[in-house]
Amino acid sequence: MTTLAGKKIVVVGGSSGIGYGIAAAALESGAELVIAGRSADKLRVAAKRLGGAGRVTAIAADMANEADVSRLFEQAGSFDHLVATAGTPPPNYPIGETDMDFVRGFVDGKLIGAVMLAKHAVRTLNKGGSMIFTSGINKDRPPVPGGSVVSAVAGSFTYFARALALELAPTRVNIVSPGWVDTEMWDEIVGEAKTGYFNEMGERVPAGRIARPADIAPAYLYLMQNEFMTGETVHIDGGQRLV
Ligand SMILES: NC(=O)c1ccc[n+]([C@@H]2O[C@H](COP(=O)([O-])OP(=O)(O)OC[C@H]3O[C@@H](n4cnc5c(N)ncnc54)[C@H](OP(=O)(O)O)[C@@H]3O)[C@@H](O)[C@H]2O)c1
Repeated sequence: MTTLAGKKIVVVGGSSGIGYGIAAAALESGAELVIAGRSADKLRVAAKRLGGAGRVTAIAADMANEADVSRLFEQAGSFDHLVATAGTPPPNYPIGETDMDFVRGFVDGKLIGAVMLAKHAVRTLNKGGSMIFTSGINKDRPPVPGGSVVSAVAGSFTYFARALALELAPTRVNIVSPGWVDTEMWDEIVGEAKTGYFNEMGERVPAGRIARPADIAPAYLYLMQNEFMTGETVHIDGGQRLV
């Protein structure tokens, strides 16, 4: 296992939720952070909350926009690990009522965005580095109705990483697939109903509760540090796939 001390990590989605949790954990392990997201305000608040004595840089960029992605890596400079957790709430209506503009926006922000991140990251990613993208439980337990698009997108990451791990070797490429995690995204999707959803699922999952971002961050740190992990999808869901 390598250390993260002195390593530079670019976290796209680092201003909120799972990405923020990874940034906080990596900072504690001695890393230097670049956090990215669309909202400069959210990034400013997150960078202040993270602290880090000058080890955190915030860069506003939309990963669905190629000019933004290119500028992000120019400004970040050479770095060691790319982590992408960025994403927006998925489509949640029956297939016959699909809003194609919404679906295209979702796919652009998640899957096409990941392709663009990989395309531009390779120019400045240091030897010995890695890329980690985020899928999720929705590919294993699709919400019904409306889960087909998010399931297809999340599922595709496993094969994206396998192919890219071969193409970019020895750079490593991996995926983390979390179960439900208590983040700002849930507030946006279900609002005050969140507590009810979490209590009900918390009673069913073997882990006995819903994850916090701090429970998920170690999976990303492990994939950055273990030089023998590549082309892999790591599930971290408290056993949610079993129920
Ligand atoms: N929370 C869960 O239960 C869960 C479970 C499994 C998988 N996931 C997946 O994990 C990922 C992160 O979820 P989360 O719960 O941490 O969400 P979150 O709290 O809403 O955080 C999303 C982050 O991504 C950024 N972002 C969104 N779209 C972006 C874009 N186009 N370009 C750049 N940054 C963008 C957001 O900042 P801006 O809004 O400022 O851009 C924010 O920093 C999502 O893809 C989600 O589907 C989540």
